[in-house]
Amino acid sequence: MKHTNFSLRVFILLTGLLLGPLSWAACNYAPIPNPHPDGIGKSYCDRQISKVMGWQGAPWLERPQRLQEERTDLLIQKLNLKPGMVVGDIGAGTGHISTMMTERISPDGVVWAVDIQPQMIKMLQKKAESLPKGRLQIRQSSEKNLNLPDRILDVAIMVDVYHELEYPRETLQSLMKAVKKGGKIVFVEYRAFDPDVPIKALHTMSVAQVQKEAEDLGLKYEKAESLSWQNMITFINP
Ligand SMILES: C[S@@+](CC[C@H](N)C(=O)[O-])C[C@H]1O[C@@H](n2cnc3c(N)ncnc32)[C@H](O)[C@@H]1O
Repeated sequence: MKHTNFSLRVFILLTGLLLGPLSWAACNYAPIPNPHPDGIGKSYCDRQISKVMGWQGAPWLERPQRLQEERTDLLIQKLNLKPGMVVGDIGAGTGHISTMMTERISPDGVVWAVDIQPQMIKMLQKKAESLPKGRLQIRQSSEKNLNLPDRILDVAIMVDVYHELEYPRETLQSLMKAVKKGGKIVFVEYRAFDPDVPIKALHTMSVAQVQKEAEDLGLKYEKAESLSWQNMITFINP
């Protein structure tokens, strides 16, 4: 009996030693030898990272049929924003979503719109000029840092952005620092493996993949909701 216990303990120890590093290593970066043409040649957490949508795609973000196709009105409604809230739009692009959010947090709330492309920053500045002063604050991020003040956001949203972050781990860590404890981080990603979603595969993500990557950094899963083309996955910042 004693012998069995000893063998069992050795087995558990060896299994732990072998599998421990493997599970810990699940959310690491790795180069991809034969990358997909839409990817950057690097994976994170076993997912190929996609190329960034260039600023030349700005008209697509502003297309009039976007509301019908993506039900952006439902997206905003589901965020349950209130006047006075401080909200982050990470990877804000042209500011289409930021502008919609400013209507919900007025008269005294603020939207912080962040993007990495200087051309997008210019378009955001133009949008800010047509809004009351200070309503839309703009920050240019770097590859790993969002350049936001600490613990300022009640809610942060990334609409069609996370899958194309070059450094998702560091960028999400930077976002977690900017969101208040108990605040929310919402990922909006085109649904993977859905033939009705007319989007390139590398620009889509499954709920399970988002959850795996977010929970790896300690975010607490709250819920996943469906929009017409996207999933909206909400986490609480611990
Ligand atoms: C497909 S667009 C979506 C724009 C906007 N969220 C919308 O739905 O209208 C993705 C945006 O994410 C931005 N982006 C990519 N990597 C980023 C990073 N590391 N930090 C901030 N923005 C980033 C891109 O510049 C681009 O404007």
